[in-house]
Amino acid sequence: MSATSSLNAEAIQALLPASRRIGREIVVLEETGSTNDVAAQLGRAGVADGLVIFAERQTAGRGRLGRKWESAAQKGLWFSLLLRPAFALADWSRLTTWAAVGIARGLEEALPGCCAAVKWPNDIYLGGKKAVGILCESVAGPGGYAVVGIGVNVNQTREDFPEELLAKATSLREAAGEGSAPLDRHAVAAALLRALDALYPALETDFASVVAEAEARSFLVGRRITVHAPQETYEATAEGLEADGSLRVRCEEGTTRIVSGGEVSVFTR
Ligand code: BTN
Repeated sequence: MSATSSLNAEAIQALLPASRRIGREIVVLEETGSTNDVAAQLGRAGVADGLVIFAERQTAGRGRLGRKWESAAQKGLWFSLLLRPAFALADWSRLTTWAAVGIARGLEEALPGCCAAVKWPNDIYLGGKKAVGILCESVAGPGGYAVVGIGVNVNQTREDFPEELLAKATSLREAAGEGSAPLDRHAVAAALLRALDALYPALETDFASVVAEAEARSFLVGRRITVHAPQETYEATAEGLEADGSLRVRCEEGTTRIVSGGEVSVFTR
């Protein structure tokens, strides 16, 4: 497999441990609307925990808060995990924190020397710019399932990003340094799936350690931020993460607030 070959499910599977739960089955689609929708459809049909759907191109890739996700053909890894967590539904919100930590570990394995930061709640930053976005969607009830959608910019160069993303987005290849060769997306995909699989048991048995790692990797802690909550926007300093993965902030008047939804941005005057 060369760095520019099309994704191949067997080539990824060959790099995963036989005992894995995540990536037990892998499907690669040439083109689809959104891999999250395909995974959800298979979830409704009763497909087992651990399926991973990749697409070389998404025509309707989406992000949080109804945003569009730029899914350039063959440049990144656009994929969704179908999971059936065995723990209480109330705790399924843990999946975003878990995925962020697993992906951060996997990126550092795929690109030794790089430093992956978690920008709460669902982004991974390399060198101060976004390289990964995570979108968790779930359906409760009997036969319920969760879909964890992950978009990783792998081989994009500056010219590949649309104008509006130029200042904010990066890729693993860019993080490797100017003039770096394209990375083999099979090796990157396998590193990410191995890291997520290794961390899967901690969702149930040791979520505190996952939160501690997300906090240690936080892009926000200690920074002045703007919180865009559903009903209001305010400035604060990010202090840390709560046991459930929510963000704890300190407001100017000294009060502490817990942010569990919405969006935060690093404060710029
Ligand atoms: C975000 O940054 O808001 C989340 C972006 C999530 C993008 C991924 S790409 C694979 C999966 N399919 C989608 O439509 N979205 C997620």
